[in-house]
Parts: sequence; structure tokens; C-alpha cells
Amino acid sequence: MPQASANMPQAPVNRARARGSRTAELVAVSRARHLLRHDRPYVLEDPYAIHFVGNRWRRVLDSLVLDALFAKVLVRRLMPITTQHLTRARFAEDCLEEAARNGVTQYVILGSGFDTFACRRPDLGLTVFEVDLAATVDLKRERLANAGMACPDSLRFVPFDFEKDELGTKLLAAGFDSGKVSFFNWMGVTYYLTRGAILDSLDRLAAVGAPGSEVVFDYLIADACVPPEDRALFASMMAFVEKRGEPMISRFDPAEAGTVLNPRGVWEVVRNESPAEHRRRYLGERTDVPPLAPITWSLHLRRRKP
Ligand SMILES: C[S@@+](CC[C@H](N)C(=O)[O-])C[C@H]1O[C@@H](n2cnc3c(N)ncnc32)[C@H](O)[C@@H]1O
Repeated sequence: MPQASANMPQAPVNRARARGSRTAELVAVSRARHLLRHDRPYVLEDPYAIHFVGNRWRRVLDSLVLDALFAKVLVRRLMPITTQHLTRARFAEDCLEEAARNGVTQYVILGSGFDTFACRRPDLGLTVFEVDLAATVDLKRERLANAGMACPDSLRFVPFDFEKDELGTKLLAAGFDSGKVSFFNWMGVTYYLTRGAILDSLDRLAAVGAPGSEVVFDYLIADACVPPEDRALFASMMAFVEKRGEPMISRFDPAEAGTVLNPRGVWEVVRNESPAEHRRRYLGERTDVPPLAPITWSLHLRRRKP
């Protein structure tokens, strides 16, 4: 766990600890809405996402009028974030499939929220560990039960707090095999964590993952790197999540992320990808989905051999 000291700034309270993550629910809304409102081929096809959407959002999705009020008026400026929810998941799962073809059998989703991979892809035969705050895990279990969905045998839930717990110990206690090459998906989470917890977690992953293990995660770009035309989007998004009790607190310069987040060089940087790259690869010329928010870059690291 990250070492705290008297001089270290305290992380602002994240209310997801007490009542489960609202931002994870928003991701489920984006995934469900993609299938309801957009054309094929889907960027990410998640038919289970709708089961993790609470009643208020369900009413919006069920009504074309309410949906238009939200998407075209109330949160119009934030709609590009909903596309980022899709592309980041697609990127992570594309990298995972490549790793699975190369023999990976353990898949760890860090800050998993309402991820549904274990239900969608039993064909890959992976053991899946979903790691998240206890309150988010409880909410996920509750919504699974309400939907009458069975938990796949391959799925293990790991209640865990990046700011307080020790990742290696928790994973091993849940049955993680540190002798196996593994894939870690940490999308959509680092911005809610302190810099200390992010660096500490990467150290723990390097220690618990066998050489050749991979991690993918996205990071919010530093204020100084945000072009003037995107500043309003950033400000709206930061205010929106802060109001929902999940403030974004860590940001990085893409030019330095591969070294700042890898100070001991234990990871090989496989990719450090811009939103423009994801736009080109996953969206092309399509206009049915909102334009991709240029807010995060994605790092793909592979554990070097000692
Ligand atoms: C926006 S959701 C991301 C969900 C999913 N990974 C994705 O890419 O869409 C952020 C997730 O991080 C989790 N989270 C936030 N702070 C955390 C912490 N300190 N420890 C563990 N999980 C945390 C939340 O509970 C939530 O499920």
C-alpha cells in the first residue's frame, strides 16, 4: 500500500467507497446506449450492460424524448466522454485477445466497475479477477442478482482499495497464480487515484505478475498539455465527476508518462497511444457516435524479464 507521510496531501474523499461507483454506472449507460442508439458494427458489443444501469438511467434510455433531452441539451458537451468509454474498453480487449493468443490464461480487471467480459467471452477460457472497492463489488453483485444473471465459474471478485490495501496479497488470496503470465486491464481508474497509489500499484503488479505479463491503462492528460479548444470539455467533465463524489486527481504529460510511471524501468513500453490513434482505428469516418473525447492517452506495458 502507498506509504503515507505527514507532509503528503490527503486524497479527496471518493464517495464510491461508501455507496459504489457512479462513474462505473455511467460507463454501463454508455455501453447500453451504444447498442440502443448507434449503428453496427459496434465499437464494443455489450448486451449485458443494460442490467447494471439503475432505474433513473433506465427511464432515460427507454425514452427517446428523455434521451434526446440528455444527449442534446443537458449533457451535450459531455457526450464525447461516452465514446471514450467504448474505445478504451475495445483497446484493452483487443490487447487482451492478442495476449490470450500468446498463451495468457489469467485476466485481472482493476477497478472493474460493471465490466461484463466474463459473461461475454467464456470462449477464451480465461480466469477473470474483478478487483474493485467493496461497495462497487456489492453493487455489482446486487445488480447481477436482480437481473437473474449467474456469475460465471471463471470469475473471482476481489474487494480492494488502491489507496489502502496491498494488491499482491489480495490477488494471491483470491487464487491468482503469480507463476503465470497475466494480463491486467486498468482502464478508467488512474485519474481517481493519488500518484503514490498509481506508482505503488504498478510496482505491485510488476512483483506479482510473471515476466511477460502486460498491463494496459489510460491516464488523463496534464492541464498544460490540453489544447485551448478542449479546455471547456475538460472543465465540464472534472466538475461533473466531482459533483458525483468521484473527483479526478491525477494527470500526466504523455511525453513523459512512459518514464514517470515506470521509474525503475521494470516495464517495457509497448504502446503509448493518443486519442487520435484510437479515433482512427476504432471510429474512422463514422458520425453516428459522438466524436471521441481527446482526454486520455493509453499505456500498454509489458513486464521485462529480470
Ligand atoms: C469509471 S469506473 C471504470 C470502470 C471500468 N474499468 C472502465 O474502464 O470502464 C472507475 C472504477 O474505479 C473504481 N475505483 C475508484 N477508486 C478506487 C480505489 N481507491 N480502489 C479500487 N477501485 C477504485 C470505482 O469503484 C469504479 O468501479
